[in-house]
Amino acid sequence: MSTPAAERIQALRDQIDQHNYRYYVLDEPGIPDAEYDRLFRELKTLEEAHPDLVTAESPTQRVGAKPKGGFAEVTHELPMLSLDNAFSEDELRAFVKRIAERIDTINGDTLRFACEPKLDGLAISLLYEEGVLVRGATRGDGYTGEDITLNVRTIDNVPLKLRGRDWPRRLEVRGEVYMPKSGFESLNERARARGEKTFVNPRNAAAGSLRQLDPKITAQRPLEFCSYSTGIVEGGELPDSHSETLYQLREWGLKINPEMRLVTGADGCLEYYRDLESKRGSLAYDIDGLVFKVDSRALQQQLGFVARAPRWAIAHKFPAQEEITRLNDVEFQVGRTGAVTPVARLEPVFVGGVTVSNATLHNMDEIARLGVKIGDYVMVRRAGDVIPQVVKVVTDKPRGQKPVHVPEQCPVCGSDIERTQLIKHGKSGAQISEGAIYRCVGRLSCEAQLKQALFHFGSRKAMDIDGLGEKNIEQLVDKELVRSPADLFRLTERDLLRLEGFAQLSSENLIAAIDQRRHVTLERFIYALGIPEVGEETARTLANGLGSLTNIRKALPQVLATLKDIGLTVAHEIHNFMQDSHNQQVIDDLLALGVEPKESGQISATLVGSVSFGAFIDSLGIFRVGRKGADNLAAHFSSLDALLEASEEALSEVSGLSNQARSNLFAFLQVEENRRKLVETEQQLREFGMHWECEPQSSGQILPLEGETWVLTGAMERLTRDEAKVRLQALGAKVAGSVSAKTTALVAGEKAGSKLAKAEQLGIRILNESQLIELLEAEGQGV
Ligand code: IVH
Repeated sequence: MSTPAAERIQALRDQIDQHNYRYYVLDEPGIPDAEYDRLFRELKTLEEAHPDLVTAESPTQRVGAKPKGGFAEVTHELPMLSLDNAFSEDELRAFVKRIAERIDTINGDTLRFACEPKLDGLAISLLYEEGVLVRGATRGDGYTGEDITLNVRTIDNVPLKLRGRDWPRRLEVRGEVYMPKSGFESLNERARARGEKTFVNPRNAAAGSLRQLDPKITAQRPLEFCSYSTGIVEGGELPDSHSETLYQLREWGLKINPEMRLVTGADGCLEYYRDLESKRGSLAYDIDGLVFKVDSRALQQQLGFVARAPRWAIAHKFPAQEEITRLNDVEFQVGRTGAVTPVARLEPVFVGGVTVSNATLHNMDEIARLGVKIGDYVMVRRAGDVIPQVVKVVTDKPRGQKPVHVPEQCPVCGSDIERTQLIKHGKSGAQISEGAIYRCVGRLSCEAQLKQALFHFGSRKAMDIDGLGEKNIEQLVDKELVRSPADLFRLTERDLLRLEGFAQLSSENLIAAIDQRRHVTLERFIYALGIPEVGEETARTLANGLGSLTNIRKALPQVLATLKDIGLTVAHEIHNFMQDSHNQQVIDDLLALGVEPKESGQISATLVGSVSFGAFIDSLGIFRVGRKGADNLAAHFSSLDALLEASEEALSEVSGLSNQARSNLFAFLQVEENRRKLVETEQQLREFGMHWECEPQSSGQILPLEGETWVLTGAMERLTRDEAKVRLQALGAKVAGSVSAKTTALVAGEKAGSKLAKAEQLGIRILNESQLIELLEAEGQGV
C-alpha cells in the first residue's frame, strides 16, 4: 500500500476508527455527524474505485452477504459460565462471608469488589487474533454456541480491529449484546406504525435481532455491545485485577460499562445496589440486577468455581419487571397536545418494585394489533421509571369477551378525533419512521392542564394579572385564543370582546393589566413558569443568586445545587425544565412579546467565590468521601486538574480518607462522562464568578445597606414582611425585631403601633410601603 489512493484509504480508515472509538467507547464525539458521513462516503468511493484495496477490517465492510444454511456450531474452549443469584441483603452478606471463610487471611470488610450493572441482553464471545475480530459466538448452553460472526460485525461499537498493539495474540472478550431503551422504543414504534408484531422487551428484541440469518437486517437494529470479562488469553497478559482488565479493554477500543465502581465489603456492595436501584429508570438500557465480582484475579483463582458458577462473583437481582394481570377497562385520555391515548385499567399487580393499576396502550391501532378485549389477562411491563405498558395478551388464560370501543369524539371536549400521519425526522433530516396518532381536532389542547398552567401563571404570587380568573381562562382556551402562557401577551381588545362578560371597558382593563406585567421581577417570572418543585422561596433564591434569566436558563445541575436550599433533585428538575424544547419555546415567545423580567443581570455579590474546592468535591456525593474527606482532598490537590490526574497512589496520600472512599473516588474519576461533567461544571462556576479562585470584590463593592439595621412593622399590601426582609438583607441590611437607638430606619405599614411611636420618639427615619418599594427598586430588588 503505497500509492496515493492506498495512503488516503488508510488515513480515512484510521480517522473513522478514531471517531468510532470516541463516539462509542469514550462517549465524547469528536466531529459532527455530517463530517463523519463525508469521511465514510469518501472511503466508500475510493474503495469502489480500488476493489483490490478492500480489507475485511475496513469500516465499510461491516455488513456482509447472507450466508448459506444456518449458523455453524462453536465449541467454547473455556466454558461460558453463569452466575449465582442473591435476592436479598442477607444472601449478599452470606456470599461475602463464604469468601472470607474460604480464604482465612482476608477480612470480608476490606475485600475489594468490582460492581457492574447486570445488563439484560445476551452473552456473547468475541475472538480476536492478532488484534483482528475473527469470530463472534452466542453463549448457547455455555459449552457450545452458534457462530454469529457476520451479525456481530454489524454492531457499530464492536471493533473489527483492536486499537494499539500490545494485545495478546489470541484474546477472547466476553460481554453482553443489548438494545438501548430508546432504540427499542423506536423499533417498536415503527413496527406498530406498519401494523407489525412488536417485541415484548429490549432483551427479546436483541435476541431476535442477533438470530437473523440475514446480517442486513441485524445491521438495521440498534444493538450495542458492552464487555465485562475475558475468556481465552494467549500470547500476552492481562492486568492483575478485573477492573484494570476492563480499563485495558477500553484502551483497546471495547466499550465497558461507565457505571462500574470499586467498593469494599458487603456494605460497599449494598450502597452501590441502592444507588443503582435509584438510577435504574434513568439508565439508557435495561438491567435486571447488579453483578459483584472479587476484583483481585489472584483471589479469583484461589476461590475457583462450584458447578457452573464462579465462587467469586454473584448477581444481585432486582424485582421482576413483567407480570400478568387482568385488564378491567380501557379509558381514553387527552394529552397536552390533543393526542388521545388509551389507558388500561388493570387489576393491581406488583411489578418493577411498585403496584401498578394503570398502563398505557399507546394508541388505538395498538388495541387492534394486540387484539385485546376487556377481561383479558395481559402481560404488563414496567422498566424503571418508564410508564407501565401492556405488551401482550396472554393466550393460555381465559380470554375476555367485551370488545374495546374506540371513541370517535374526544372524551374531554366532544369534538371529532382524527387519525394523523406522524412523520419523524432523523439526524440528517431524512424521514425515518411514519406512524399514526389520534388527535382531538377541536383544538390544539383541550385538557385541564393548560388551563391550570395559565391559572398558576396569572395568580397573585406569580405574574399577578388582575382579572384573569378561572372563568376567563376557561373561555380563552375554549375559544382557542390562548394555547400557551405567551399567547396572553398577544391578546387584543377585539379578542376579548368575543368572550362572555366582556365589554369595552373590561377588555381594555384586562389588556392593560396584562401589558403592565411585561415588567415583573425575575423571581415572579421564574415562579410563574411553574417549574416542578420550584415555589416562591426557590424562585427567589434563583433570581437573587443568579441575577438573570440567561444564567438561570443555562445553569448546570451541580452549579444550581450549590445555591441555598437547592438540593441535587431540585437542581435536576430546574435544569431539565430549562432544557425542554417546549418550555424553551414558551420562554423565547414571552421574551419576543416584550416580557422583560427586571433583573440585576449579575450573580449576587454574596456568591462571588462562594463555592470552595472542598464543597465542590463534596457535592459529587461520592460514597464515604463526605465533607471532611472532600476538604482534605481540596487541601491536598491544588486544582481540579491535579485531582483529575491523580493516581490511586497519590490519593492514598490524602489524610482522613478511608480505603473505600479512596477507591470509590478513584473509580468515579476514571469514568469519562464524570470527568467531562466536572470540567464543564468548573467552567461554569468560573464564568459565574462562583469558583473558589474568584475573589470577592471586597474593596469598594460594599452592599448599599451594609452596616444598617432596619425594622419592619404593620401590614403591607404589595409584599409580605418576609419578602421585604429578604430583600433588605440582600442589600446588606440587618433586619431586627425591635426599635432601639441602633435602628437605622423603620418601615411602617398599615396599622403600625408601638414601634412607630418609639421610632418617632427617637427621631429615626421612617418609610412607608411605597417609599420602601421605591428604594428597593432603585437598588435592583424591586417587587
Ligand atoms: S459476568 C463468570 N457481568 O448474566 C461470570 N455477567 O448469569 C460471567 N450478565 O450469562 C458473567 N451483565 O449474560 C457478568 N456485568 C456482567 C453481566 C453479566 C449481564 C449476564 C450474562 C451472563 C449472566 C449470568
